[in-house]
Amino acid sequence: MKQFTDKTKTLTIAALSALSLWAGMPATVSAETETGEREEIVVPRGGGRSAFVKFNCITCHMPDGRGGQNEGGYGADLRVTPLSEDQVVTVITEGRMQKGMPAFKGQIDPDTIRQLAKFIKDDLRLKK
Ligand code: HEC
Repeated sequence: MKQFTDKTKTLTIAALSALSLWAGMPATVSAETETGEREEIVVPRGGGRSAFVKFNCITCHMPDGRGGQNEGGYGADLRVTPLSEDQVVTVITEGRMQKGMPAFKGQIDPDTIRQLAKFIKDDLRLKK
């Protein structure tokens, strides 16, 4: 019974964290769990980073954009993409299905896709 209660509590905390993020509450949410572990979720507001995480780009391209092997193929290293911002927008929109890059048309609105492209070109790009 105790176990059940703990589990419920943890789930409630997780749900609340998700809810407050969704509702635009402060970006840092930490929850003290029963075991005393602290969990910190930091999501920068508004930028391409949150979309990059939210739409699972990190699954194939890794949080820093380096890419790598995955079920879909070899995720491109976005840090060194030779594509222009407009071309990046096109790839995200249309995808490259046969190479394992999904099309996000209809799933991500055009403004957010543009934000993602800027994020890739400005923030992920390896600075010299
Ligand atoms: C299921 C895995 C997967 C997911 C999820 C995914 N990608 Fe990709 N992506 C790939 C693969 C694989 C390639 C390489 C395709 C190729 O070889 O031409 C790629 C290529 C790209 C390219 C082209 C880079 C270049 O230099 O040619 C961009 C830009 C890109 N992805 C952005 C994104 C963004 C932004 C997201 C999230 C909205 C995303 N990807 C989600 C697998 C994925």
